[in-house]
Amino acid sequence: MIFDIITIFPGIFYAYLNEGIIKRALQKELIKIKVHNLRDYTKDRHRTVDDYPYGGGSGMVMKPEPFFDAVETICPDRTERRILMLSPAGKKFDQEIAAELSREKRRIFFLCGRYEAIDERVKIGLADDEVSIGDYVLTGGELPALVIIDAVTRLIPDVLGDEHSAEIESFSWGILDFPHYTRPSVFRDMAVPEMLISGNHKEIQRWRRKEAIRRTLKRRPELLKKIRLTDEDCKLIDEIREESQ
Ligand code: ADE
Repeated sequence: MIFDIITIFPGIFYAYLNEGIIKRALQKELIKIKVHNLRDYTKDRHRTVDDYPYGGGSGMVMKPEPFFDAVETICPDRTERRILMLSPAGKKFDQEIAAELSREKRRIFFLCGRYEAIDERVKIGLADDEVSIGDYVLTGGELPALVIIDAVTRLIPDVLGDEHSAEIESFSWGILDFPHYTRPSVFRDMAVPEMLISGNHKEIQRWRRKEAIRRTLKRRPELLKKIRLTDEDCKLIDEIREESQ
């Protein structure tokens, strides 16, 4: 998988990409990440990337030409690239989009904006998708690009250990994770739930599924409407409802 990032702040990326699982994925050559400085694709003496907005108003707008020139220089064949433009006005990124991107064969480009916005013609004539990572406004698209690269990379085969990836695919897909505990078994009067110490693997699995559903019902009930519940899940929901009466 090849990720290409186009930004006016290349320095933002190096610390994050040089730690942990992403670093290992890079070393194992499961992913490649190329960071490109947008200013290298400007033609004027001042390396200008922004200009005043047509129609007036506050803030500057990023010019279209450097983005087009960058993408078309780096990857001239349009069939070999998938271009994501980061913006709070885009489609909301989620685990389903992460999974879809993890199967992408083309190079994935991230166009990172700064200032007020990117000229709309970048969306119209260059980007395939406009993507937001959530309903809040950041100072630029660099963190969203890192968030997406991180979420996509951990879904690429062999990036995580085997047991881990199987779990992501099935057990907790689409709902919130269950609570986790490690030693000590009692910490400041807070004890680890008895069930987790029982050694009964089947019952532990059932408890985890139930607690994941309990959390989801409480915090994000809309998620449960999107997934296919098994008969066992419905039983767990009945139990949870009875317990809270
Ligand atoms: N740029 C600024 N805020 C953003 C967001 N929430 N998602 C994607 N790009 C952004």
